[in-house]
Amino acid sequence: MTATPSTEPFVYNPYDADLNRDPFPVYARLRAEAPVYHNAELGFYALSRYSDVLDALHDPETYCSRHGITLEPRSPLPLLLTMDPPEHTRVRSLVSRSFTPRRVLELEPAMRRISTRWLDEFRDRGECDLIRDYSGKVPMDVISELLGVPEADQDLLREWTDAMMSREDGNPDIPPAGIEGATNIYRYFAGEVKQRRRSGEPGPGMLGSFLDMELDGEPLDDLHVISFCFLFIIAGNETTTKLIGNAMYRLATNPDQRAALYADPGRIPDAVEETLRFEGSTQQVARTLTREVTLHGVTMPEGAKVLLLLGSANHDGEVFADPERFDIDRRNTAHIAFGHGVHVCLGAAMARLETRIALEHLHEAMADYAFDEDRLVRFNSGNVRGYAQMPMTFTPDRRR
Ligand code: HEM
Repeated sequence: MTATPSTEPFVYNPYDADLNRDPFPVYARLRAEAPVYHNAELGFYALSRYSDVLDALHDPETYCSRHGITLEPRSPLPLLLTMDPPEHTRVRSLVSRSFTPRRVLELEPAMRRISTRWLDEFRDRGECDLIRDYSGKVPMDVISELLGVPEADQDLLREWTDAMMSREDGNPDIPPAGIEGATNIYRYFAGEVKQRRRSGEPGPGMLGSFLDMELDGEPLDDLHVISFCFLFIIAGNETTTKLIGNAMYRLATNPDQRAALYADPGRIPDAVEETLRFEGSTQQVARTLTREVTLHGVTMPEGAKVLLLLGSANHDGEVFADPERFDIDRRNTAHIAFGHGVHVCLGAAMARLETRIALEHLHEAMADYAFDEDRLVRFNSGNVRGYAQMPMTFTPDRRR
């Protein structure tokens, strides 16, 4: 264990903005001192060791998802994320049929085009806000492309998604703007589905494929189609935006690693994997116990909410040598930033490809770069880790 045992009591509150600035020392204490942590005030338990988190992810019968995968009340929509086997198995195989590795590869030219388009807006300026000008734009445009959402609607969808994910400091409740954001997204897709059904043409993208699908021998109903679109927007947008930001920040603050990447861009995939391990954008997922479980001498009752701290598991010294060091040379890539087991991220290949392209394009465009530490603003959310604002300056690379 990396933590120095301490007698000071400590609180783990995933909504605490101070803690979210640097949760890793608290994770280390959780792993060392309270591997089954109980927060009575917020009403949850938390598992922080790699092996415990992995075991829980592989036991959906005990650690179920149907009551939601965050501390907040679950969405009323039939989302894949909040289903359990056997329903989950059927629906996942259906979604997987339209979201194949081939589809991801086919998206690569669009990803490159979208990335270049946003980069061209600021590449000569020598300064930008990485989130506002680039990483907050590209993933949403790529998902929109994947789903078949027209370009004219993409900004609005991004705005609603941001509102939906944001939380007030220390408060787990979804703010009114969040509920409004989610409602707007729902209404948007309901309108698209209606229009496409009426026209008799399923139309482009995965939305078109969903409209042609059957579940249990019946055409997929509108609610499922809308929920599938909703799922891709919420699962693949913010997470990728934040991962690109986290990768750029860690490279800026580890100049030796960044130099290695400039010297050999073939190292970019290693930098992406190490960012996922070191600072993945999904720090935790929640489960609900279907039965009483006793672990490390602590009994968690049936119905308890249990947070599985992926971000902590990925810093577990039992699995990763020198875990607090950001190291793109690391050979052990057994991180669980994309979860594990039946719910393992369906979009992992797409997120990896998108982040690789982002790092490739940003490093080609910038001969060097630095973030303005005082003006970095964290995104405050219970489980998404990253920045809301990342002002940076850079030396434009004029060779291209
Ligand atoms: C850095 C980016 C991403 C991270 C860190 C991430 C992380 C995760 C994690 C941890 C889960 C498991 C949730 C659980 O066990 O309850 C998950 C599930 C999922 N992710 Fe991602 N994700 C990312 C990007 C994407 C993208 C780009 C897409 C799609 C375009 C996507 C689609 C999904 C879907 C559909 C699921 C649900 C799978 C299921 O419940 O069976 N994700 N993701």
